[in-house]
Amino acid sequence: MDCLKIIEKLQKEETADREEILFLLENLDGETEQALHRAAAEKSRERFGNRIYLRGLIEFTNYCKNNCFYCGIRKGNRNAQRYRLESEDILACCRMGYGLGYRTFVLQGGEDPWFTDERMTAIVRAIKREFPDCAVTLSLGERSRESYQALFDAGADRYLLREETSTKEHYEMLHPKTMSMEYRLQCLETLKEIGYQTGCGFMVGSPGWKLEYLVDELLFIKKFGPHMVGIGPFIPHRDTKYAKEPHGSLALTLNLVAVLRLMNPKVLIPATTAVGTLDPRGREKAVLAGANVVMPNLSPASVRKKYMLYDNKICTGDEAAECRRCLENRMRSIGYEIVTDRGDYRD
Ligand code: 5AD
Ligand code: FES
Repeated sequence: MDCLKIIEKLQKEETADREEILFLLENLDGETEQALHRAAAEKSRERFGNRIYLRGLIEFTNYCKNNCFYCGIRKGNRNAQRYRLESEDILACCRMGYGLGYRTFVLQGGEDPWFTDERMTAIVRAIKREFPDCAVTLSLGERSRESYQALFDAGADRYLLREETSTKEHYEMLHPKTMSMEYRLQCLETLKEIGYQTGCGFMVGSPGWKLEYLVDELLFIKKFGPHMVGIGPFIPHRDTKYAKEPHGSLALTLNLVAVLRLMNPKVLIPATTAVGTLDPRGREKAVLAGANVVMPNLSPASVRKKYMLYDNKICTGDEAAECRRCLENRMRSIGYEIVTDRGDYRD
C-alpha cells in the first residue's frame, strides 16, 4: 500500500477500505500529510470556494443529568457552578449576534430537565419570530422522538448530537452504565428521519481510544450520512476521573478532518474550539485540512467560564464582538472569508 495512492482513491471514490484508511493514518509522513491536507482543502474549495460559514454558539445551561466520565459539566462535578440563561438573555445574545452577521444560532446545553418541551419550544419560536431569516441549531443531547418532533415543529432547523463513538467497548469506557450507545445512535436516526439537518461527531484520543476505532467512526459516519460532522481532540478536565489522561493529538485530529472531508464532500465541518485550545492556530490549520465552519462563542461573557467541558478552553474571557473579529482576521490570514449566510447543507 502507498499513502499517495490511498489519498488519490479517497479523492476519486470518496471512500476507501478500512485497512487502507488505517494504513494511511499510520504511515503519513511530513510530505504525504501535506498532500492529504491539500487534497481535502481542494475538495472543500470545489464546493464552498473560500467561504467559511459562521455559527453563533450560545451555551445556555450547564446543568446536566448525565455523568459522561470525560465532561467537566457532568452531574457529578460538585465544583461546577451551575447556571441557566433566561429566555430574554438568549434572545439578547441572538440580537447581538445578528448585528455581527450571524445567521445561525446554536443553542447548546447540558441535558437539563428544566428545559421541558414547553419551555424549549417557546424559546425556539421566539427566536424564529424575531429572526425569520436565521437558522436555529439545537444541541441538547438525548431526548424522546416526540420532543425532537415538537422542537422541529417549533422551527428548529438543525440538531447536533455527537455519537462520541459507535464502538460499544469504547462507549462504555466513556459513559456510566445508565447511558446507552444504542439509544444515542437511535436518536441520530430519529433526528434525520424528522427532517433535521443532523450533525454527529466524536472526540479524538478520548480515554481508551484506538486508531481502529477512529477508522470505524469514519466508516460509520460515511454510512450514516450526516449533514454536519464535529470532531475535536479530547482535552482532560481536572474534576473528572480522566484528569491525568493525555489530550488527543492535534495532528491526528487534522488528518481525520481531512479524511472526513474527502469521504463527505458536502458536509459542514467546523474548525472546533477544542482544536483552537490545543494550538493558537489550530482552527486555521483545520480549515486548511478541509473544515468550512467556525463557531465563535456568543454566550454572555459572565457565564463563559462556567461552561468548561475541558481545561483551558479558549474565548472564555472575550466578548462576542471580539470573537467575531478574531475569527474574521484568522480566516483572512489564510485566504478565507467569513460569510453572512445561513450556510445550509445542500445536496
Ligand atoms: N474534551 C474535548 N471535548 C469534550 N466534549 C465534552 N467533554 C470534552 C472534553 N473533555 C465534547 C463532546 C460533546 C461536545 C459538546 O463537547 O464531544 O459532544
Ligand atoms: Fe452532560 Fe457530558 S455530562 S454532556
